Amino acid sequence: MVKLAVPILLATGSLASFAQGGDKANRLAPYVPTPQEIIERMLEVAQVKPLDTVVDIGSGDGRVLVTAVQKFRAKAVGIEIDPKLANQANETLARLGLQNKARVVRADAFSADIREADVVTLYLTTSFNEQLRPKFEKSLKPGTRVVSHDYGIRGWNPVEVEEVFAHGRRHKIFLYVIESKKN
Ligand SMILES: C[S@@+](CC[C@H](N)C(=O)[O-])C[C@H]1O[C@@H](n2cnc3c(N)ncnc32)[C@H](O)[C@@H]1O
Repeated sequence: MVKLAVPILLATGSLASFAQGGDKANRLAPYVPTPQEIIERMLEVAQVKPLDTVVDIGSGDGRVLVTAVQKFRAKAVGIEIDPKLANQANETLARLGLQNKARVVRADAFSADIREADVVTLYLTTSFNEQLRPKFEKSLKPGTRVVSHDYGIRGWNPVEVEEVFAHGRRHKIFLYVIESKKN
């Protein structure tokens, strides 16, 4: 088994208490890391395969990307609005020698190009997910799996919802699959 060389940060709570109006323009969710075992389960639920491209929207410290490459042999792209987090994650990827397989783009989720995704991972908020839904419907190809930690996507029906107990609380994992466009 490949060992992850990135320290595991423990999530101490959910995003529920986040008050909007952070210091970064259009920062619609705070940085709260997903526990490592939940990341691994999200990628399993999404059935990430070697050479899939995983896009983590709001990629924080980059551990979703590291896990996608090291454990699932995928390629990975992070979209992160916070320049400090984006730089730190790119430094981590370089330190681990993963810079050819994963990168973080410093960008707002609403303007980022996510068309190459086979899998999209989210740990945002219900409202942020809802605002992103039209972009997903426009940009993502049929068959793309969208997997979200704790917060569903209003207006979409999940194909699977899993509950996992970790670090003193229940976490939810929602799986959606983009359908073919109906003409
Ligand atoms: C809850 S953290 C999730 C981090 C990581 N994906 C994980 O699951 O461990 C949400 C992240 O979204 C980023 N974020 C907030 N608003 C954003 C936006 N408009 N565009 C891109 N990233 C954003 C935050 O800076 C933060 O790092």
